[in-house]
This record gives sequence, structure tokens and C-alpha cells, in this order.
Amino acid sequence: MSSSKSARASGPSSELRARYDELVREIQRHDHLYHALDQPEISDHNYDLLVEELLKIEAAHPDWVRADSPSQRVGSQPLEAFTKVAHRRPMLSLQNSYSVEDIDEFDARVRKQLGSDAPEVIEYFCEPKFDGLAMELIYEQGVLTRALTRGDGAVGEDVTANIRTIRSVPLRLPAEAPPLFEVRGEVILLKDDFRRLNEQQEADGEATFANPRNAAAGSIRQLDSRIAASRPLRMFIYAPGVIEGRSFASQAEFEKQCLAWGLPGVGVSDESTEGAGAFETRLQVNKLWADSLGPSSKFLQRLRLARTARGPAEARAYYEFIQSIRESLPFDIDGVVIKVNSWRTQDELGFVARSPRWATAAKFPPQQAETTLREIAVQVGRTGALTPVAILEPARVGGVTVSHATLHNQDEIDRKDLRVGDRVIIQRAGDVIPEVVRVANPDDQGRGPKFRLPTHCPSCGNSVERPEGEAVARCVNPLCPAIVKESIKHFVSRRAMNIEGLGDKLIEALVDEKLIARPSDLYFLKLEQVLNLERQGEKSAQKLIDAIDRSRDSDLARVIYALGIRFVGETTAKSLALAFGDHEEFLAATSEQLSAIPDVGEKVAQSLIQALQGDYVQNEVRRLQEGGVRLAKRKQATGLGRLKGVKFVITGTLPEPRDQIKALIESEGGLVQGSVSKKTDILLAGEEAGSKLAKAEELGIRVVDWAEFQSLLSERKA
Ligand code: IVH
Repeated sequence: MSSSKSARASGPSSELRARYDELVREIQRHDHLYHALDQPEISDHNYDLLVEELLKIEAAHPDWVRADSPSQRVGSQPLEAFTKVAHRRPMLSLQNSYSVEDIDEFDARVRKQLGSDAPEVIEYFCEPKFDGLAMELIYEQGVLTRALTRGDGAVGEDVTANIRTIRSVPLRLPAEAPPLFEVRGEVILLKDDFRRLNEQQEADGEATFANPRNAAAGSIRQLDSRIAASRPLRMFIYAPGVIEGRSFASQAEFEKQCLAWGLPGVGVSDESTEGAGAFETRLQVNKLWADSLGPSSKFLQRLRLARTARGPAEARAYYEFIQSIRESLPFDIDGVVIKVNSWRTQDELGFVARSPRWATAAKFPPQQAETTLREIAVQVGRTGALTPVAILEPARVGGVTVSHATLHNQDEIDRKDLRVGDRVIIQRAGDVIPEVVRVANPDDQGRGPKFRLPTHCPSCGNSVERPEGEAVARCVNPLCPAIVKESIKHFVSRRAMNIEGLGDKLIEALVDEKLIARPSDLYFLKLEQVLNLERQGEKSAQKLIDAIDRSRDSDLARVIYALGIRFVGETTAKSLALAFGDHEEFLAATSEQLSAIPDVGEKVAQSLIQALQGDYVQNEVRRLQEGGVRLAKRKQATGLGRLKGVKFVITGTLPEPRDQIKALIESEGGLVQGSVSKKTDILLAGEEAGSKLAKAEELGIRVVDWAEFQSLLSERKA
């Protein structure tokens, strides 16, 4: 009987199993096309459909879930603790040096050690020293089975679940990869992603990070991989661990092979003596990452920042060159690493103590300055969080004048023992965000008193709460004018209701004049009321009323995001709108329903339940409805499919924000790519289009301007 049962089960179930394996392969292929090659073949929507199908199968057959399943990218149940795992080969550190002359000394040491074996000119492999968190990836039979932190060098922590969420890290290598392939690299955040993450943290009322390295390390240390999944982490590979079944002659060969297998890196240049000019051109070309979809791994790889150098003079030139472009790089570095290129020579040189004799880290002098801490101001955010801000005697650091720096929270100030009047060392981290590193004169007599965050809100005078174990102190008065103003600023912001022309000053005036006391009041505002405000002309007042009116044509996702519920960012808001469909359903959501939504974790669900049980959200949504705001979910595509299957690339300055144009194209079934290739159908080129235009012309790809694009839409409408 049991055999007939299994025979019956094996038919459809084995078909489903085959479909499951096919989906894993297909999604892996699309990941590679998107992240490594920057050549997507399907739209985001169709990709999501594949993932949805995969998740459904996995939910029904949890025992089928494969280690290399793309589902692992979204994060899973939190761990109790990280498991400690020994490295097969210890993860060592590098000898540091702080000046360019040290490169000559390094070369002399290497020559001396090699003795008569030393070649006339030693070839070095030079690359940036990334400022992030060291990580080991272990691929067994081509599958990413483990990711370990450095730990104490001998034993690291198993953070596999977090690393699997990094889209550019392949879960599987091509078939020709050796059976055991361990690689090491640095987990980082790009400067732009870091800025956005901190903005989001601030919007969520969470503590901000001091610099990209802290943010990357903090994300990897999360036991809940869904948090890591929400952070735009990246990785650059720069060293081998244990490799079995394949040999490499040099570091250059190793890194090129890694790139070819889809592992992320900054690319290897073939020229050893390329000048800054050539690089600047390449950087310009790649700068387009900033105005497009954000830099894909391929863009970063095209920077080709690593290269070989023949002898110490070329290595020194590399150091000077990288230092000169340091500011314009999209990620933080703190020096360059010079390695003997030949692996055989590396073996010959071996190790001393905990560092290899064949490599040196030549660090850049830090971009620091000394100034006076004039005052510690306290700002109240949208969620009531009190953030201390350093008001500094303006000082120049790395080419910019710095007069403010966030101090994050009380703990941070205590740790650094910062007091008003102190001379302090400041530094720019993550490109623009200045930070106070330490007190310059901690032993001085007559320093001011220790700083304490106020026990009462500086805006409304209500008492402040700081829950056990939390770093952030909050004002909990929902009527606090600072909270009201910040909530409205968030509500009108571009990614929320996008009310143009309603700037901070105007919001403050409207609240101070008691014309509005909550976001929904905007939809009951009359032209005459705005006109009564100081410095409001007829024209600008009418413009504001029109902008408010336009924002009525919104959708549920934007409204949910605009409400500013703690931990509900844009992505979560979209998922909620998708899951509930309309505001009635959303307002009545139960915790079971919420927890069933893929990217709603426990913390988010709790915050939502709390918000939905209170009056504020319920009342606001009702009043928005009365005020004529559209609360329905927007359809994925308009269904007209006017641009179905057409592959676009967008470049130059256009009259509408790029993400709106992208959304428009996608809603019509088109696809927006990051870079021009043979597969591109149309280049939409605005003012000052640069290299993408040149490339399109070279490939004979159709180029349209804004007007043509508009007519394209109406043409296809017919
Ligand atoms: S090679 C045997 N290459 O620097 C050591 N390390 O001080 C092999 N690092 O823990 C390391 N960029 O986290 C190497 N291009 C690079 C690097 C790099 C950053 C870090 C790494 C390591 C530390 C050593």
C-alpha cells in the first residue's frame, strides 16, 4: 500500500520538484544578468512573479528549500546567536604604513627576503584598501554554503543568513568553479546608500550610523537577517582562502577569475601605468550610476581600480593616484594595499607574526581637523526622538567647511565625554557626514560640565522617555509642535505625498499660525488662509493649493508611507498596500495578517498593530478620505502595455524625476536598463547627455528626446 501511495505522490510531486529546481536556476540566472552583467532580460514585475512562485512551493515543501535558493536573500527567522566556526586558513591582518616612502622600504624588505631569487623588477598587485568589514565566503561544489566574519582570525562567526541577502554575492558559481573555493573580501556600503540609509533611520526614528563601516558592520551583526536584507550591502573580493582543485599563478589571475565567475569586485585594469586622465574618463562614464538605477556591481567593476605595477615607483604612483581620486569614489577607502603579484613568490615569502611578508597596507592620512565645540543643540524628530547636534566653530576638513555634526545620542556623547567648549577632532566620514571623533584636550583643567540630554522636550516641555535598553530618548507628546512639523515634512516629502513647493519654512509657518495641526489638515486648507500668511503672493499660494490638489491622486502605498508609522519605510508600505488593497482592509489588519506579509517582521508588525489600535492613524486616514485623497492601491501596470517589452535607457537631464519616468515606462510594460547595450531598444536622452548617447549612436540605437518620448506614448495609445 505504501508503495502505491508513493507512486501516486511521485508523479505531480516530482514534477513540482523539477519546477522548483528550474525556478531556482532561472532566478539565479536573472540575478546574474541583473547584478553582475547589468543586462536584465525581464521586468522587475516578472522577476517578482518567479520569486512568488518559488516561495509558494517552498511554503508547501519546507524540506525542499535549497541552500542556494533565492528565497534566502530576503532573510529568515532570527537566530539565537551566531555559531562560531574555525577558518580553514587563518584570516590575517596587514602591516600598516602611513607614507608613500614606506612602499620603497616594503620593496627593499621583499628583495632582501628573496635574496638571489629576487627578479630584477618585482611585479606588485595594487588595489584600494576598502573600509568595511572583512568576510570569508565558502563555496562548496559551487554553492555558497557559509560566510564567516574574521573574528579573532582563527575563529569567526557564521553570518551566512545575512550574507545571502547581498544581491551581488552569487549563491552559486558557474559549473567550472573548483569543488572548494574560499574567497575573502570586504562588506561595505556605498556612500550614497549610506546617506539614504541614515535618512531612513532618521525617518524611522532610529539611531543613525556614524559612517558606512559602522553601518555595514552593524548590519552584519544583526541576528535577524531580514534587517540585513533591508540594508543595501555590497562586497568586494580581494583574497583567497583555501582553494582545492584549481591553481592560480597570480593575484591578478585570481581576481580576474573571480570577476568572471560573477563575484563582485572593483575590476582589474590591464594597464599598469594608466594616468589619472584615463581613469577620470572612466569615472565620468560610471558616474552615470548616480543618475540612473544606482551603481550595479558591473558599474563598480568597470571602474577597474585594481592594477599591477612594475616595481615600487609604479606602486607609489598608484598610491598617489588613488589618493587624488579618493573623494570621487563611490565608497570609502582608507589607503591602498600593495601585494606581490606572483603567488609562488608569495609562498616563498611567507608570514611573520600575523601578517604576510608579501603585502603592505599604505594608509592615507586621515581627513581630520581640530575645532571648538560651541554648543550642543537638541533636535526633535518626527518620532519624537531627541538628537543632539554639535554646533562647531566652522573648520575645513577634506575641502569642505564643517559647522555641524550629529552626535547621535547620549551614549555616544558619554563615550567620547564631549563637553561644550572642548577642542575636538572632527572628521568627514562617508563623504559628507562630519563626525566628532574625540576630545583633543581631555586632560585640560576647567572643562565645562558633562552634557545631559534635557529631561523635558525642548519644543513642548513635556517629559522625555527613554525605554530600558534603547539608545534613543523621545518626547511622547503627540501634540508636540516639533513632532507635528516633522511629521508634516515627512508627509509632504517626495517619496510620500510629493507636495511640491511646500518647504520646511512654509510648514513651520502654517503650524505656528495654527492653520494646520496634522497632515490631513492640508486637504482642508483654503487659498485665503495661505494668502494671509506673511510673504505669500497670490501666485505662489495658488501654486501650493494646486500642488496639494495634485497629491490627492495618490495611492495607498504612498499614503501608508506618508503616515510615518515607525519602521514602515517605502518598501514595507508597498507590500502593505499590495496585501490589503484598500484602506478599510488596512485599518482593520490583524497581527496574523500582518505577519504573513513577506517583509513584515515581528518588530514592524508590532509597531503597526500599535499604530492601528491608536486613534491617530485611524482618524488621519478617514480625514484624508474626506479631504478627497485617493486611497486605492495602484495597479501594477495600466494594462495598456503601450511600451510592452521595449527596453529603455534614460540619460541626461529631463523635465521629470527619473524614478517617475522609470515608473511610467514600467507601468506601460517597458523595461528600464542601467546601461546602453546591443539589447537596448531606445535611449531617452535629455539635456547634457554624455557617454550613453555616444554609445547609443555608436551601436545605432534609436535615440528619442523628451518630446518624442511623449508622442511615443500617445502614438502607442492609439
Ligand atoms: S588583503 C593576509 N586586500 O584590511 C591579509 N585586505 O589589515 C589579506 N582590507 O582584514 C588581506 N581592503 O579587512 C586585503 N584590498 C584589500 C583590502 C584588505 C581592505 C582589510 C581587510 C583586512 C585588513 C588587514
